[in-house]
Amino acid sequence: MKEEKAWYENDSWWQTMAPILFPAARWKNTAAEVSRLLQLTGLKPGATVLDLCCGEGRHSLELARHGFHVTGVDRTSCFLAKGTELAAAEGLEVEFVRYDMRHFCREKSFDAVINMFTSFGYFENQEDDYRVASNTYRSLKPGGIFLLDLMGKEILARIFRERDWLRIDDTIILEERKLSRNWGWIDAHWTLLKGSERHEVIVSHRLYSATELVLLLQTSGFTTVDIYGSLDGSPYDHAAARLVALARV
Ligand SMILES: C[S@@+](CC[C@H](N)C(=O)[O-])C[C@H]1O[C@@H](n2cnc3c(N)ncnc32)[C@H](O)[C@@H]1O
Repeated sequence: MKEEKAWYENDSWWQTMAPILFPAARWKNTAAEVSRLLQLTGLKPGATVLDLCCGEGRHSLELARHGFHVTGVDRTSCFLAKGTELAAAEGLEVEFVRYDMRHFCREKSFDAVINMFTSFGYFENQEDDYRVASNTYRSLKPGGIFLLDLMGKEILARIFRERDWLRIDDTIILEERKLSRNWGWIDAHWTLLKGSERHEVIVSHRLYSATELVLLLQTSGFTTVDIYGSLDGSPYDHAAARLVALARV
């Protein structure tokens, strides 16, 4: 019997979800995100940055506009093709590489690695999350930083709803959510309605609390890990919007 691919290994999953994940409003917000990211990290133009799980290159392109040397890594070819096309149209130099985040490693090559918009925690076996973190550690130069931006477990506990209807551009979406494995995972079932088209997709990923993420990063070699509640550097408290970790080699 043919084994089913995991959702994140399925190109058609990403193709179906692209308009929902990367609508115009999210692209528009990217410049503000990058400016907060630069303030939080203190990164200066000219530095080498790896955008791990870069998608269509929202952050890669914006960082290149600021004068950073950017490598964007992602598994999904159509996203990399779009990033490459957008970079060419603007005359920006970004190296886009098709690679699985579990295996990408370039020893001591980057001043910073970023992993944005909940692009971590997808793998069934948690050893793979550890592998990503330790490969990232090895890819960083001495003094390098790793910035992760996730939906934190504590935030989800505060805002959790079993279902929501939403509209993104011309698509109406029903998102139904369940928690599983003792709050270890979130399993979501999305129904997308666009004109006469109907798609159903499933997404399931591991949830990290701040302390679980700190433990993973420290175990993977990082010496210090600071946690924030948003890219603006606010505390990770009852009002946090995101789980942002800034880990240092
Ligand atoms: C939620 S999207 C975020 C994209 C981008 N960081 C952004 O903020 O626009 C997650 C990305 O992870 C990529 N991805 C999923 N599994 C991956 C893997 N095993 N290796 C590399 N990239 C992966 C997907 O193709 C997708 O582009």
